[in-house]
Amino acid sequence: MASTPLPPASTPSSGTSTVAIDLGDRSYDILIGEGLLQNPATFAGLPKSSKALIVTNTTVGPLYTAALRAAIAPHHKAVLDVELPDGEQHKDWPALNQIFTKLLEEAADRKTVLYALGGGVIGDMTGFAAACYMRGVPFVQVPTTLLAQVDSSVGGKTAINHPAGKNMIGAFYQPQRVICDLATLDTLPQRELLAGLAEVIKYGPIADAEFLSWLEAHMDQLLARDRAALKHAIQRSCEIKAWVVGQDEKESGLRAILNYGHTFGHAIESGLGYGEWLHGEAVGAGMVMAADLSTRLGLIDEATSQRIRALIARTGLPVTAPDLGADRYLELMQVDKKAEGGEIRFVVIGPLGQAGMRPAPESVVRDVIAFHTR
Ligand code: NAD
Ligand code: GLY
Repeated sequence: MASTPLPPASTPSSGTSTVAIDLGDRSYDILIGEGLLQNPATFAGLPKSSKALIVTNTTVGPLYTAALRAAIAPHHKAVLDVELPDGEQHKDWPALNQIFTKLLEEAADRKTVLYALGGGVIGDMTGFAAACYMRGVPFVQVPTTLLAQVDSSVGGKTAINHPAGKNMIGAFYQPQRVICDLATLDTLPQRELLAGLAEVIKYGPIADAEFLSWLEAHMDQLLARDRAALKHAIQRSCEIKAWVVGQDEKESGLRAILNYGHTFGHAIESGLGYGEWLHGEAVGAGMVMAADLSTRLGLIDEATSQRIRALIARTGLPVTAPDLGADRYLELMQVDKKAEGGEIRFVVIGPLGQAGMRPAPESVVRDVIAFHTR
């Protein structure tokens, strides 16, 4: 997995920051700052169209639809909205179809701009709807969870779940812009903030050991929602994701490292039933298991995997996975998108700050599962 060197972290600044996603004619910016929803400059240069549709859910809609509507009203003759049911268990065909029904009932044309206002569930579904409606309409990501601001809104992966596998039905489809308003995180429940921190932490072990040290030094500020600390964490996460996606948009290799902890994590999520554990919680426990797997494969020493575990534990995220039984874990992990010809492949760390992907002997995987489940 050859790659260009990771650019250094930008110097922290108090104003709005921009991270560029460089994908030729599909390039776009991620804006990170406070009060972006109230600032007309945030929306300058986005496609203008007769209609726009804000896709949100019953939790986020009442909080932020009015502000977004006011901000984009000058760009469209009509701003419509649709509120989907809230929850990972509704990342499915019926909820997706509600978006299409609204668009068709309102005779939305192929220039209609979709705005995804919410967390990763809304972002993934809106992106997929945008990829499909009339074979593709523009969309803008307005992520309102930490997880969505650091990961899911960036890079163009869109999907819904199938009962047999998470995010299995979807498309690569890039947004026009990603707008991360730090102020929206004020209303985020603490459990959701922690779930987002799991995806922040992952960037350290896979790409940037210095960032891991920064996270260790600033975890208390992050847990207390210090705006400057959150801004730096979001910006560095987006910079790392931009570096990965810019080299491997469609995951032919390098991009798979972003799934560190996700092979175990997805098994936890689908094994328990979507919505039982949050995605970030499952990734937290999954990263502990994948770090230990890396140690058992001789790629990092025991102290390094303990260091990763300690940081995850400090956030309050689960570090022990549910006991689904090793056979069930193996069965669930075979449905993972990284599996090839029925062989499960894991993102492993080694050395710290670098990741690769490989299969592992079943006996070692069984040992990891036995050690980390209860
Ligand atoms: P989510 O979208 O379910 O949001 C979490 C909860 O927070 C929901 O109840 C939501 O209504 C609520 N919420 C959102 N913003 C809020 C706010 N500002 N104030 C109060 N409540 C708010 O979950 P998530 O963690 O954002 O995203 C998880 C999803 O993202 C999963 O489906 C996962 O598969 C997907 N994901 C996708 C990618 C990708 O690259 N596309 C990457 C990582 C995760
Ligand atoms: N979150 C994994 C990816 O975007 O590839």
